[in-house]
Amino acid sequence: MKPAPKTFAVKSFGCQMNVYDGERMAELMTAEGMIPTADANDADLVVLNTCHIRERATEKVFSDIGRLRKHGRAPMIAVAGCVAQAEGEEIVRRAKVDVVVGPQAYHNLPRLVAEAVAGTAALDTDMPAASKFGALPARRKVGPSAFLTVQEGCDKFCTYCVVPYTRGAEVSRPFAAIVDEAKALVDAGAREITLLGQNVNAWTDGDGRGLHDLIRTLDRIPGLARIRYTTSHPNDMAQGLIDAHRDVESLMPFLHLPVQAGSDRVLKAMNRSHSRDSYLRLLDRVRAARPDIALSGDFIVGFPGETDAEFEETIRLVNEVGYAQAFSFKYSPRPGTPAADIADHIPEEVMSARLQQLQGALNRDQLAFNEASVGRTCEVLIEREGKLPGQMLGKSPWLQSVLLSGAHKIGDLISVCLTHAGPNSLTAIFNPASPTKTSC
Ligand code: SAH
Ligand code: SF4
Ligand code: F3S
Repeated sequence: MKPAPKTFAVKSFGCQMNVYDGERMAELMTAEGMIPTADANDADLVVLNTCHIRERATEKVFSDIGRLRKHGRAPMIAVAGCVAQAEGEEIVRRAKVDVVVGPQAYHNLPRLVAEAVAGTAALDTDMPAASKFGALPARRKVGPSAFLTVQEGCDKFCTYCVVPYTRGAEVSRPFAAIVDEAKALVDAGAREITLLGQNVNAWTDGDGRGLHDLIRTLDRIPGLARIRYTTSHPNDMAQGLIDAHRDVESLMPFLHLPVQAGSDRVLKAMNRSHSRDSYLRLLDRVRAARPDIALSGDFIVGFPGETDAEFEETIRLVNEVGYAQAFSFKYSPRPGTPAADIADHIPEEVMSARLQQLQGALNRDQLAFNEASVGRTCEVLIEREGKLPGQMLGKSPWLQSVLLSGAHKIGDLISVCLTHAGPNSLTAIFNPASPTKTSC
């Protein structure tokens, strides 16, 4: 027998789904009577909620475990998330952690911890048919901006990606369960909800209703001021969702729509099932519905076989779209994915040069988007205190970070005038006199 843990910490890596899962695990352990610690080194139980999307993920988990054992109080360690799903047995074998739990099984964490206390290594990477959500405690106090997972898993099988293997097939949560959780989040303090899914716009109730129907229903919840969703796949961008961007005031003018590459040959080799042109035409339709929409994307450089000319097509696409934000990555071969078997790997220095060129273009456009916002009035949702005394940090409708001073409280939604732009944030002044004017 080991002593039962009394305190815990959850460290989440990777995407917003993992952040959401981490919050739900923390709620679960709090409901079990455990107390969260601010510093993982002070906890009796540390949950490492891991990400497997790019290389060295597993090695990073092993070094985190080593660090915790050296500097912490030799805590019980539970490895959760996508590395747990993909490499669970290897982790138990090599690092002798106490618990390994996959993303679809974490509602069993209390039982697994009890097994570990009793002295058995506890591993659960099942993907049960019955959803974990029903077994989780109700939402507690949350900040003004909350995540809500509505869809999990992926059936797209892009040739570079581990997600279909770590998260399983596409599954949508039931309509009523989502609406109930959204109401609970608003009761717990949320003013903005971001609906999450690996392919969130593939959400369906199985009866013909899609994400836009869900958004139109959530729009009617009193107290919920803002709705966002991420991540979307271009092929699941239904006209109804585009129309919602035109009609639903609480749906924020922001769309994260990864394209990955600008060359049709590369897109085909990636199994993206959209072309450069179909993606660009889709953006035209989105912009027609919501002209001020801020666009965001994900990009991979150096996919096996990508030529200089093909990479230039990515740059041309970026120049054409003018993204407000973006994430870009070097291709990373992932074990078990089809692209990892393609022989024609791009040398590291070529990938680095391409990434630098791409990020130069993306940063230029992000700054240009921010600069074009100066002089606009908009609402800002105050999320937290800034670094300087008296400074508060909030988000604009276009997901820009906005700094301002004044006696505003976390959770306030205030009208501001955007006054200065930097690459990563804007500054603003409170604008009580003209909340409806669009420029100041
Ligand atoms: N479901 C989402 C995002 C999934 S992962 C989508 O399809 O858009 C987030 C991003 O990580 C991807 O959009 C992609 O740009 C990047 N990514 C995924 N696998 C990768 C790999 N093997 N190497 C480099 N980047 C990768
Ligand atoms: Fe991965 Fe592609 Fe699925 Fe996105 S759509 S999670 S990139 S397989
Ligand atoms: Fe990473 Fe898993 Fe999310 S691999 S990006 S944590 S779905």
